[in-house]
Amino acid sequence: MKKETNMQDNIRIEKERKYWDKNAPRYDRGIEKYWEFYSVLVDKISQDAGVGNTVLEVAAGTGAISLKVAEQAARVYGVDISPLMVDEAKKKLEEKGIGNVNFSVHDAYSLPFDKDMFDTVICCSALHNMVNPGKALSEMNRVLKPEGRLIAPTICQGEYFKHKLMMTIFKLVAGFPVFHKFSFEELSNLVTESGFIIRNEEVIREMVFPIAYIVAELNIDGKIESV
Ligand SMILES: C[S@@+](CC[C@H](N)C(=O)[O-])C[C@H]1O[C@@H](n2cnc3c(N)ncnc32)[C@H](O)[C@@H]1O
Repeated sequence: MKKETNMQDNIRIEKERKYWDKNAPRYDRGIEKYWEFYSVLVDKISQDAGVGNTVLEVAAGTGAISLKVAEQAARVYGVDISPLMVDEAKKKLEEKGIGNVNFSVHDAYSLPFDKDMFDTVICCSALHNMVNPGKALSEMNRVLKPEGRLIAPTICQGEYFKHKLMMTIFKLVAGFPVFHKFSFEELSNLVTESGFIIRNEEVIREMVFPIAYIVAELNIDGKIESV
């Protein structure tokens, strides 16, 4: 049974990381070209992440958000399932000589941190790229302090038919690893069912697909002790 689970996990991990490993060296250029608004989003997340906090970024990619957040945070940990995305993040870290950030390859479904460790957990533009985002959210719940805050800006390709169709075509043509085309309501329900109370949900429409910018706190009745 355990062997079967490991095999299923390996298949899932391969699905989730393959595209990012292949595209890691081009990722930042792609963002610059197609996501003009991204730098505004990074600044907004950094402000919401607070000052002097211990912060975890799940699915940190090439590290832009973690590096910005580190300007105000006490300590930042960025994890991602793609070793090549993490390599890109580490290169930037070295170039900038920042001392309070640590990047590592880890699976969002099984975080290498103690419970109640973080003041802020960030997961930007990644829940839709996970096969089982509910499992990742449960882990975020476990490692967040009871008074902590989740910041989860998530692309929602399922709210409007034209976006659903576009994403289906992108997936076929470019192999985008989008496993969930969320509507705003589906995303909110997922976050709530994972033991959070949504404090603020803002829709950002400056990009091709709308982003639901969710800020949530733990629902203490839904606090997860172990996954
Ligand atoms: C669209 S990128 C977003 C990267 C970064 N958050 C940003 O905003 O630039 C999605 C990221 O999710 C990561 N990812 C997907 N599944 C994951 C998992 N199970 N655990 C950790 N990272 C994962 C991918 O490797 C990829 O770097």
